[in-house]
Amino acid sequence: MNRLLILAFIALICSCSNPGPGYEFMPNMYRSPSLETYGQNNFFSDSLNARKPVEGTIARNYLSTFSYDASLQGYLDAGKNAVNPLENNEANLEEGKKLYSMFCKHCHGEFGAGGGSINHPIYSAVPHYNAGKLLRRANVPMNQLKSGHIFHAITYGLNAMGPHSSQLSEDERWKIVLYVQELQNYNAE
Ligand code: HEC
Repeated sequence: MNRLLILAFIALICSCSNPGPGYEFMPNMYRSPSLETYGQNNFFSDSLNARKPVEGTIARNYLSTFSYDASLQGYLDAGKNAVNPLENNEANLEEGKKLYSMFCKHCHGEFGAGGGSINHPIYSAVPHYNAGKLLRRANVPMNQLKSGHIFHAITYGLNAMGPHSSQLSEDERWKIVLYVQELQNYNAE
């Protein structure tokens, strides 16, 4: 017991008589070097500010079959050049129809002629897919929009129609395009 008391006494004296801060056991943990994003650093031999993505990195929103941006020019170029990589066959059309009924029908109606269950005035101008008169931004009416125009509209949206890129994969979008093209020929009258 006595010995314990003596030890405690020595420890007390030592700690009180030490004027500096306590000993840092792992200083790197207390004083981690904080770097600014994209700031200079000397971690890498080439001292580049930012690192390049590793080989094979895929950019967010990258599409392997469609490389047009959201602009009007992107839309027009897509209409001219984009090609649907999927075959127009029964299986793809059936899938397209299912996806259409989940993602489009509530606004565009079962046959693409409007009249979906969403009837808020903001969506009152839903165009009929088979309308052949009024010219759209591609300078052709709805029933002549090409697969690239339709894919672009699904991907980036248009005014009251929001973009669907986060809900639908590239493949799913092309399937819907096939089905919308069917509806472009559908006569709702
Ligand atoms: C919330 C309602 C809504 C949903 C959901 C919706 N649309 Fe639309 N869509 C619209 C409206 C409104 C327009 C007309 C926009 C305009 O002309 O200002 C439109 C326009 C379009 C156009 C014409 C675009 C152009 O280039 O002229 C296409 C094609 C189209 N939609 C396809 C689809 C497809 C396919 C889906 C499902 C993936 C879909 N839409 C989902 C409301 C919707």
